[in-house]
Amino acid sequence: MRYDFDRIVDRRGTSSYKWDMLEEIFGSDDLLPMWVADMDFRSPPALIEALTERAKHGVFGYTARNDGFYQSFIDWVKVRHDWDIKRKWIIASPGVVPSIAIAVQAFTKPGEKVLLQTPVYYPFFDVIKNNNRELAVNELRYSNGRYEMDFDSLEKEIDDKTKLLILCSPHNPVGRVWTKDELKTLGEICLRKGVIVLSDEIHSDIVYSGSKHTPFAKISEELSEISITCMAPSKTFNIAGLETSLTIVPNSKLRKVFENRLYDQLFMRLGNIFGINATEMAYRHGKEWLDELLEYLERNRDYAVKYINENIPGIKPVKPEGTYLLWLDFRGLGMNDNEIRNLLLHRAKVALGHGPIFGKGGEGFQRLNFACPRTLLEKGLAKIEKAMRELRDG
Ligand SMILES: Cc1ncc(COP(=O)(O)O)c(C=O)c1O
Repeated sequence: MRYDFDRIVDRRGTSSYKWDMLEEIFGSDDLLPMWVADMDFRSPPALIEALTERAKHGVFGYTARNDGFYQSFIDWVKVRHDWDIKRKWIIASPGVVPSIAIAVQAFTKPGEKVLLQTPVYYPFFDVIKNNNRELAVNELRYSNGRYEMDFDSLEKEIDDKTKLLILCSPHNPVGRVWTKDELKTLGEICLRKGVIVLSDEIHSDIVYSGSKHTPFAKISEELSEISITCMAPSKTFNIAGLETSLTIVPNSKLRKVFENRLYDQLFMRLGNIFGINATEMAYRHGKEWLDELLEYLERNRDYAVKYINENIPGIKPVKPEGTYLLWLDFRGLGMNDNEIRNLLLHRAKVALGHGPIFGKGGEGFQRLNFACPRTLLEKGLAKIEKAMRELRDG
């Protein structure tokens, strides 16, 4: 191993959302945070060095995105996902969720419907609700420990008011890396019904052995024409705080509408100097680091799944094919969601993602982030095990 993912980095007091907001969000500071989706690892050294050099320059004026920024991303997507994208298709923005909000505003009208497949990443709900659009839900099917899309009900759920589907691929929180066939079936339904597909592929670089990410827009020319794809270096290289993401819109009409909203109405034209720099450095020099990270994460995933299966009766882990998020099924315990939350927060003293906030199908589940040094993961799991044992023993 060239990179030290075992190293504990103290993140308290760094304005970390994950570590410094515990009191405000969970009501106690004395918790091990395993919730929001960032990692407790340092970013690739090449990226840190580049940002240090940039900071030493000392002038931080308005910053344009140079050719290197776009080319590094185009090359990354080609090598990593075998997808050829054109420079003019790419629109940079401060984040994937802001891009989704822009798409909702640009491609739907108030009162029209946006479709989600739940349980799913919860800010999607807020984007729909806060923009006065209607939420349509197609719940994922869960059987034999595996989640699948329910195409029959999806087809039924789409009506004349349904204009946009937000696809989470790979899927947060259930960890599925959708297959090409699944995506094709989904895409064909949307194509037939006139629904635009926003494919949130922020987790596409975090995929484990045996699975392969397929960009939705790569499947066919026709599907590419109804697609908006969101990607970012933020999950991959742990730079969410640098607020830089890339949206790919091959269809020129859709792109114009999106750009109009972003550039001409919201005036988000220029970028964050460190975000631009870090993105290029990471995409150019981060491959080796990411390959090692993926090995580390996969071992963490396997460790957590095995540990829970062997030591924590009543909790069933849903082994993820991608993402560093582990979806845990607590339903075997016969406890309600409040009781589960209280057990985790007050007895185990761990902060996890609370299932019900992920929408329909999230009840009875919790989401655990395993992107941390192994010792922290061991500590978190041991805390949950101990709390469960105490509960059983009365
Ligand atoms: C599926 C998904 N989309 C988007 C985001 C956040 O993206 P951003 O920080 O670029 O808005 C996350 C973060 O957890 C996520 O899991």
